[in-house]
Formats: sequence, C-alpha cells, structure tokens
Amino acid sequence: MSKETTSKTIAVALGVCLVCSVLVSLATVSLKDRQERNRRLDKLKNILVVSGLYSKKADIAKTFQDKLRPRIVELETGVPLPEERYDGLLNTRDFDLNRVAADPRYGMTIPAEQDLAGIKRRPRFMIVYDVIHDGAVEKIILPVYGKGVWSTLYGFMALGKDLKTVEGFSFYEHGETPGLGGEVDNPRWQRSWVGKQAFNKRGELAIEVLRGKVDPEDPKAVSRIDGLSGASLTTRGVNNLVRYWLGEHGYGPYLDRLRREGMR
Ligand SMILES: Cc1cc2nc3c(=O)[nH]c(=O)nc-3n(C[C@H](O)[C@H](O)[C@H](O)COP(=O)(O)O)c2cc1C
Repeated sequence: MSKETTSKTIAVALGVCLVCSVLVSLATVSLKDRQERNRRLDKLKNILVVSGLYSKKADIAKTFQDKLRPRIVELETGVPLPEERYDGLLNTRDFDLNRVAADPRYGMTIPAEQDLAGIKRRPRFMIVYDVIHDGAVEKIILPVYGKGVWSTLYGFMALGKDLKTVEGFSFYEHGETPGLGGEVDNPRWQRSWVGKQAFNKRGELAIEVLRGKVDPEDPKAVSRIDGLSGASLTTRGVNNLVRYWLGEHGYGPYLDRLRREGMR
C-alpha cells in the first residue's frame, strides 16, 4: 500500500469518526428534553403502580393530578412546608431529592453511625404523596432510596391509612444485576410486600427483609419478606434502606405526627 493511500485511509477514518461523533452529540442534545420528560413520566407511573392506580388505558399525568396530592415535609419535625415557602428546589412540581440533598440549606450529611441506607447525605425536606379517594386520604406514598451492590436504588413505598400496612413497594431506578439484585423488579417479589406490617402492635419498626425465606410459622412472618436468592447484598441494601426511611431519622417523625393528628 502506498504512503498516499495510507494517509487517505486515515483521513477518511478520522472524517467518519468526526461525522459520527457530531451525529451522536446532536442526538444526545436534541433528545435530552425528551429523555428527561420520559424519566419524569416513568416516575409518575411508578407512583401510580405503587398506589394501585395505574391503568394502561388511563392518562398517567391526569390520573396523577386527580388522585395524588404531593406535599413537602420537613423530616425532622414531620411538619408539611407551607406552599409560600416553596422555591426552585423545594416544590412539588420538579422535586429532585439528589439536588435537595446536595444543597447546603436543604440537605444534611448523615452521621456515619446513622447512615443505614449508605447515602451519606439526605434531604431535610422530602416530597410525599397522599392518595385521595372520595375526598379522604386513603394511603400515603413515601420515596425511599439507598445503596445496593452496584447502585443506589430509588423507589416508593405505599402505606395504608393505618400507617402500618404496606400497600405497595417498587423501585423506579437502580443498576443492580439483572437476574440477581435486579430481581427487585420482579412483580411477584414486589407483591410479596403487600399486606406486610411495617410496624408491630407496639408501633415499633418491624419490617425486615430476610436473607432467605420467611418461615410461615414464624410469629413475625407478618412483617418479614423473602430475600432475593443469589443476591444477599442487594437484599441487605433493601432491608437497610427501608428500615432507615421508616425509622426515626427518616419518616418516623412524620408518621408519628400523622398518628397523633390523623391524616387530613
Ligand atoms: C457479575 C456479578 C454481578 C453480581 N450482582 C449482584 C447483585 O446485583 N446483587 C447481589 O446481591 N449480588 C450480586 N452478585 C453476587 C455477590 O457478589 C454475592 O455473591 C451474592 O450477593 C451472595 O448472595 P447469596 O448469599 O444469596 O448467594 C454479583 C456477582 C457477580 C459476579
């Protein structure tokens, strides 16, 4: 091959690379908004699924607007934030828990000994959702998140109006291995959460994801969930994140306040 042909080949290859990278960049930029919109819609869909309100035929945004009432709650006190105090970060329109957690005013570093979910920082204010039926709150939806093996898992838990019974649980984002930790998406496993008692009769946190199977004879079976087989690390992560968020450093004060004052 002559020298001239070699340099031509390289030039053509470089030209093709350049054109391709410009095309990929253009596609990335032009699709960014749509991706963001789809991601937001997927999150809403997940909230509806956990609420038991999702239907393939119904419009997601409309069902959400008709049936769900989002609010921002200060976790430490359990008191909802008045709408007058909403701003670019604290609002129910585009609440982003990672941005809120990172913000020096609205986020906080979790002391290592309390950081069961392995998330290092958390929002001091969190978005929660009331599911409204016939003008009354029927259940509440709480965002939960924490570390698995490879990723942070983000999901929602629905609690019934007794504030004890799990009525839905699912993750809308994670990077665990399909077939192993990724089995958190298995509908059968998700359904196994429904009806479990997150708190015992004394009001103590009782929900627990086991490493292995629940013994149906176990008196605590009503609060216990089967672990994912071959994925004990993800299982432990899910157990920890759920216990963190339902505990005293998560939604504990909010749930206490609802128990005292009722859901309105
Ligand atoms: C490529 C690869 C991916 C893995 N992904 C996960 C995972 O997503 N979740 C998990 O808990 N374990 C995962 N593991 C397995 C863990 O390293 C560990 O073996 C497992 O959690 C032990 O679970 P077991 O005690 O239930 O068998 C993965 C292992 C390999 C080699």
